This record gives sequence, structure tokens and C-alpha cells, in this order.
Amino acid sequence: MKDKLKALKHKRGQALVGGGQARTESQHKKGKLTARERLHFLMDEGSFNEIGMLVTHRSADFGMEQEKYPGDGVVTGYGTINGRLTYVYAQDFTVFGGSLSETQAEKICKILDMALKNGVPVVGLNDSGGARIQEGVSSLGGYADIFYRNTMASGVVPQISAIMGPCAGGAVYSPSITDFILMVENTSYMFVTGPNVVKAVTHEDVTSEELGGADTHAAKSGVAHFACANEIEAINHIKKLLSYLPQNCEDKPVALQYQPANEYRAELNTLLPDNPSQPYDMHQVIAQIIDAGSFLEVHKDFAENVIIGFARLGGRSIGVVANQPAFLAGVLDNNASRKAARFVRFCNSFNIPLLVFEDVPGFLPGTDQEWNGIITNGAKLLYAFCEAAVPRITIITRKAYGGAYCVMNSKHIGADINFAWPTAEIAVMGAKGAAEIIFKREITTAEDKAAKWVEKEQLYSDTFANPYRAAERGFIDEVIEPAETRQKLIAAFAMLENKVVNNPRKKHGNIPL
Ligand code: HXC
Repeated sequence: MKDKLKALKHKRGQALVGGGQARTESQHKKGKLTARERLHFLMDEGSFNEIGMLVTHRSADFGMEQEKYPGDGVVTGYGTINGRLTYVYAQDFTVFGGSLSETQAEKICKILDMALKNGVPVVGLNDSGGARIQEGVSSLGGYADIFYRNTMASGVVPQISAIMGPCAGGAVYSPSITDFILMVENTSYMFVTGPNVVKAVTHEDVTSEELGGADTHAAKSGVAHFACANEIEAINHIKKLLSYLPQNCEDKPVALQYQPANEYRAELNTLLPDNPSQPYDMHQVIAQIIDAGSFLEVHKDFAENVIIGFARLGGRSIGVVANQPAFLAGVLDNNASRKAARFVRFCNSFNIPLLVFEDVPGFLPGTDQEWNGIITNGAKLLYAFCEAAVPRITIITRKAYGGAYCVMNSKHIGADINFAWPTAEIAVMGAKGAAEIIFKREITTAEDKAAKWVEKEQLYSDTFANPYRAAERGFIDEVIEPAETRQKLIAAFAMLENKVVNNPRKKHGNIPL
């Protein structure tokens, strides 16, 4: 027995050192942690159980049979994060650059299969040189096996991908099918084709960081939901993100204890500028209303005209979607529509109620928007709200104009409770544009223009630039004092706690992708 235990200890020891001391040092020199160090920081202490520690590759080409490392470049298993069961895999760059072999893919697939069967979130820590070059098509097949499972698990269990090193070629498609991508500044990149191929094909000179670094994907492409300063920050973000989510689509997010208190927020009554054309920062509105310090903004630097993120309200986990008047006047454009639509669908998949703050002058005009498909992209957001069956509440703080009024979680498309502040303006368009159209025949001469224009504009504004027409029709359930918003929302979400909506049976809808 003693010998057998010794042999086991030896094998385990081999797996624990991965590709060896020199490669670990090289990893550290690049400012990166090893797979096991990352898991140490991610998982609750002592909770990690490894699966497949002794798996090795089966390749015999190019002398590979002489070079085997137990674990084969990925550490897989399960444990708890803040007390909740989570399945994980972490690619080990010290073994063949974390490259994906047939057996590495099998290990990852095993984790995904188990997560799906048991209804448990999956976190993947990616750090890999891509397909194991010595294995050819076996490796490609392994990627496709993972993509398939990511897709099957989509909407069943939350899937989170952190990119902590290279992620190139087809390898990018696993993270991009998962729900959230976190990237680490300066040490991670994602692209379908790297700078050398770009140079050869398009003659552009671009660095890896410019082409597919964390900031690029967080701000320009929207591929990454979070850009983190370092790996520890990324790991802490994963933990925080998971805290808002349920284990699976049948589960509800964990609600924290809520102590009823005085929820009147007097500051909100003076937050909006007197001039309705002046911007204000919607973050300030959100911060006054949600539980203190609970906002986890998603896609913070991408399409800033719409704000999305998770928060808590009276202890409950909610998803926030808000127009941002401080950026492009809060207009909806292609990127903002895509960003918000995917978030709404995520929240709906995982039973996270939606809270919408609305101050939107409409969709952004222009050839750039039209030629890049604002019709289809705007429809994505509309569709996402229409099909969302979770509790849904809207607060119109100021402008709710045109098609954007309908799209931003209006009563007509299934919102449960629609509040408006007295500052709300709910109309087909702004007063100036409206007066120019409906009074065109009455105002013909230059004298008419000078005398009557302002008056007509005021008439339209008095008639529609308020919440009361909509309230008379029941499109707004209640016009509320801004200071009352938090207490009204806590009560309304509690009232909607057991909401059930049965949308028509179908295979799946055909969202305008
Ligand atoms: C096998 C690999 C590897 C790979 C790296 N290594 N990538 N082994 N297959 N894909 C090995 C290296 O040989 C080296 O081994 C160790 O990992 C570390 O690599 P370095 O080059 O020393 O590290 P670094 O300088 O940091 O560069 C990292 C890198 C580079 C940029 C990722 O290694 C690289 O360009 N690798 C090849 C990338 C690639 O072309 N992959 C295939 C892409 S196509 P030793 O023994 O020296 O430590 C693809 C298609 C997927 O992935 C399609 C899915 C559908």
C-alpha cells in the first residue's frame, strides 16, 4: 500500500507542476498567473475538486509520444464560489501553450456536460495558443465539440469566459457563445486573424493589443463585457457577477435580506435639469434608487448611450437597462440596441427581473445607422423586450419619443408596471419637429413664422410633453414623485414576484439577428 500511495503522490505531483518551473517563471514574467494559481483565487478555499488530473494526450506524431504532461494543458473540476457550486476549467499555458488537443477538448466537454446535467454555472479561464498544431484535425474537432456544448448550455446555465492570454482563430468562438467575456488589459487578446495575416491581406499595421486587446473589445467591438486591469480584478469580477445570477434557468437568483427602511430619496426631486434639452448622468439616478453600491455595470465603455448592468433592489437581483442622456442624448443606435437586446435576453433566460429607465429622444438618424442596419438592430431590442417573461418595470424620467417609446419596455409590449415622473414627455416626436409638420399649412408667410411658430410649438408641447395623456389611457400606471421611486419599485417587484407568462409554444422564435 505504501508504494501505491507513493506512486499516486508522484503522479499528482507531476500534474501540479504543469509544464515545469521554467515555464511557470516565464508565465509570471509576462504578468500572468498559472492555471492553478487562478483557480486558487477564484474558488472558495479548499473547495476545489479536480477531475481528469491524470489525462494525457494520445498523439504520436512529431515525437509527441515522448512529451506528456498529466492534465494535458487544462485543469478542470468543480468547487464553490462564495458558497455556490460552480464548474470550472482553466487552460494551463505552461503545457504546450495551453493549446487544445483532442483530450483537452474532451476534458472541457466533460465539464460542460456535467454542468448541463446538474444545472450549474460554468467558468472558463482561457489562456491558449489555439489548436494543438501537432494534432491537426483532431484538435479542430475538439473545438467544434466545445462549441456545440456551449450552445446547448446557452440559456440553461450561466457561462462565463475570462480571457487571460491568447485566444485566436476559431478558438474565439467558444467564449463568444458564452454569456460574458472578461479580458485582462495588456496580457490577453482575441482575434480571428492576427496582425501578420491582417498585414498580408489588408496591408494594415496593427499590434495585437490594438487589434484585439481588452480595451479594443470592451470599447470598440463590444466583444468583451469587462476589461480588467489585472487577473485578480478579473477573478473578483467573476465572483461578483455570479452573485447576481441563479444556478440555472429553473432557479431564481438569491435574494439578500431586506430591512424595510425610509426609502424616500429627496435628492431625486432636484436631479433633473430645468431645461429638458440639458443632459444629466443617468448613473446618478440609478445609484439613488438601487441598493447602495450594488451596481455592476456591464459593457461600461461600449455604446455608452445605453447603460446596462446588474443591481439589487430591496435585496433582489435585477437587470437594469437605461438610456444615458449624458451620451449622444441617450439616443438608440445600432450598438446600443444590440448591447441592450442581448442583456435583456440574458436576464430573461435566467429569471432576472428587468428595470428600465427611459429618457430617449428616438433612434439615431443617418446613412451610417441605416446602412448598418438600425432597422434590424433596433428590432432586436424590441423583440427581446416583447418576449421577456420576467417581471418588467419602466420609469420614464423624461423623453419617450417615437418608436423608441414603444421599444423601451412600453406597456404595449408586455411591461408590467410603467411609471413616469412628472417631467416625462411622451409623444411621437419633439415639439419643434411636430409643430413644423402639423402647422405647415397655417404658417406660410415670414410674419406668420415669427409670430406663430413659438406659440404652435408651445401648443404641441403643452399637449404632449407630459405624462398625463399616456396616464389617461393607462399606458402609464402611475405618475410618481421622483423621490418615491425606490419605494414604489420595491413594492412593485415584490408584487410581481410570482409572475407567470406562457408565451406561445414554438421551437424558438426568429429574432432578427
Ligand atoms: C502546440 C503550442 C501552440 C500550439 C504555443 N505552443 N502554441 N504548441 N500548439 N498551437 C507552445 C510553444 O511551442 C511553446 O512550447 C509554448 O507553447 C509557449 O509558446 P511561446 O511561443 O514560447 O509563447 P509566447 O511567446 O507567449 O507566444 C504565444 C503564442 C505563440 C503567440 C500563442 O506560441 C503562437 O503563435 N503559437 C501558435 C499559435 C497558432 O498559430 N495556433 C493555431 C491557431 S489556429 P515550449 O515547449 O517552447 O514551451 C486555431 C484554429 C482553431 O487555433 C480553430 C477552431 C475551429
